[in-house]
Amino acid sequence: EIFINSVDASKAVAQEIATLIKLKQAENKKCILGLATGSSPIRVYDELVRLHKEEGLSFSNVITFNLDEYYPMKKENKQSYHYFMHAHLFNHIDIKPENVNVPNGAVAIEELHQYCADYESKIKNAGGLDFQLLGIGRTGHVGFNEPGSHINSGTRLITLDHITKVDASSDFNGINNVPTRAITMGVSTILRSKRVVLLAWGQNKADVIERTIQGEISPEIPATFLQNHDNTTFVLDQSAASEL
Ligand code: GLP
Repeated sequence: EIFINSVDASKAVAQEIATLIKLKQAENKKCILGLATGSSPIRVYDELVRLHKEEGLSFSNVITFNLDEYYPMKKENKQSYHYFMHAHLFNHIDIKPENVNVPNGAVAIEELHQYCADYESKIKNAGGLDFQLLGIGRTGHVGFNEPGSHINSGTRLITLDHITKVDASSDFNGINNVPTRAITMGVSTILRSKRVVLLAWGQNKADVIERTIQGEISPEIPATFLQNHDNTTFVLDQSAASEL
């Protein structure tokens, strides 16, 4: 779906999420959302906050699982995805704190394997993701599933690609301060979501969007695995869609 601009696109995506939340409320069910960080989803979160404040949208039945977190990373650190999610969304809505899940970048390395397995189990036990929001990195990563990620990969520790570190360097005051690793949901975790919406805005995403949608499915561009998911929409602005 190609929108004239990212503002209109973000409102449409927020509306879809709000409709899903209300549908689940009407059925007396929990709504399980997979959430993303980065600049792309910010306007979606702004609109969800507006819908909460102005139209009474309640998140009391919502459980969230975030895609990823830098490793190592303390929650209080302003560069953490934990901080980002609270600043842009969780602090402004009525979600129950116990229903918020962001991978913990402060888990001891020897406990990480079990921690990642438990994160997967928690998603499964909640009933699986109803909706997964994604951005895309210039490497073709979704979450932090960098080139080389296997289609069957689950939540795990990953080493960040050089291009990803270059793109994150402005947030960290230089590439040398960017963490070299991250915890990320796997490709299979994402593909099991009942619905996937990937957002991409701007000219600098046009090349990876073209390769993701029109290229061969390959772990070299992990986002291409979404071609096999039967309920995925790429929501693009005109610049991101300019090479299709
Ligand atoms: C980071 C995140 C991804 C995100 C990507 C793109 O690498 N881990 O989940 O999709 O950045 O970020 P942006 O939306 O700022 O372009």
